[in-house]
Amino acid sequence: MRNFITVNDIGDIKEAVRKAQYVKANPFADSHLGKNKTMLLIFFNSSLRTRLSTQKAALNLGMNVIVLDVNQGAWKLETERGVIMDSDKPEHILEAIPVMGSYCDIIGVRSFAQFQSKSDDYSEKILNQFIQLSGKPVISMEAATRHPLQSFADLITIEEHKRVERPKVVLSWAPHPKALPQAVPNSFVEWMKAADYDLVITHPEGYELDPSFTEGCRIEYDQKKAFEGAHFIYGKNWSAFNDPNYGKVLSTDRSWTIDSEKMALTDNGFFMHCLPVRRNMIVTDEVIESANSLVIPEAANRVVSAQTVIKEILLGLQ
Ligand code: CP
Repeated sequence: MRNFITVNDIGDIKEAVRKAQYVKANPFADSHLGKNKTMLLIFFNSSLRTRLSTQKAALNLGMNVIVLDVNQGAWKLETERGVIMDSDKPEHILEAIPVMGSYCDIIGVRSFAQFQSKSDDYSEKILNQFIQLSGKPVISMEAATRHPLQSFADLITIEEHKRVERPKVVLSWAPHPKALPQAVPNSFVEWMKAADYDLVITHPEGYELDPSFTEGCRIEYDQKKAFEGAHFIYGKNWSAFNDPNYGKVLSTDRSWTIDSEKMALTDNGFFMHCLPVRRNMIVTDEVIESANSLVIPEAANRVVSAQTVIKEILLGLQ
C-alpha cells in the first residue's frame, strides 16, 4: 500500500480484518518497523480521536511523530494557484507541501469539505495535492469525501460484535444543528458494501448521499421500518449533497433522534457513532449509555485501524 485514501487501498477486506486482529492482539510486535522513521500529522481541522489514535499507532510501531495544526502556529496557506498573494495568507500550499514532505517518511492529512464548491470538495483538491507534491505516502485522516481510518475501525468493531455472519447494518441520519460533511457516511457505505453486509440507509428526503457511493444500496425513508431487525445502528448526521442544497442543513427534526423506542425495534442491536456526538440530538443519553452502545470500543479501535494501515505502508518502505 502506498497511500490510504479509500477502501480500495486496503486490498482484500477479510485479510485486512485478520491483519487488524493480529495488530490488536500484538500491539508491540512490530515496534522495530518504524525505527528512525517519522510520521507527520497535518490537521486543517480539529480532532480528538484521530489525533491521539494515529499518534499512538505510529508510536507503537516505533516511529517518531510530529503534529502540525495548520491553523494554529503555522503560516496561513494559500491554496489557489495564480492568485496575487496580497491577502493574509503568506505561504502557498505548493511550497508548503514539499517542505512538509522533506521532514517525514509518511504524512497523515485531515482536511474537511469546505462547502464552497462541491467539485473542489469531491475532487479532493487538498488531499490530492499532498499525494502529488509531498513525495511521501499519504494517509487520509478524514478528507472531504471519506474517512477511511474511521470506517476501518467501524468494520473491525462490527466483526468483533456480530452474532450472525451477514449482519443487518443501518446507517441512520440524525439531526444536528450545524452543517457536517458527508465523509463519514460516504466512507461507511463504501466499507460496508465491501464487507457485503446487509446495509440499509435511512434519512429524510433531501439527504440522499452521492449516488456513486450508494449505488445498489437499499434506501428507506421510514426510519422505524429501517431499524426493524437490525443488528447494528450507525447514527450520523450529514448535510445535503444534492444541488442546489449542497452543504446545507435542511432539517433538525428531532423525531429522527435515535432513542430507546427505536432501538427496541432492532434485533437487540448495537449502537455505533464515530464521535464526537451531540447527545439528545443524534442519540439519547439512555441509548449511548446502554450496554449495547459500542462508541467507546469503536473509538479504541481507531488505534488498531491506524496501526494496521501504517504498518502496511512501512512494510512497503523496507
Ligand atoms: N471520529 C473522529 O474522527 O473523531 P475526531 O474528529 O475527534 O478525530
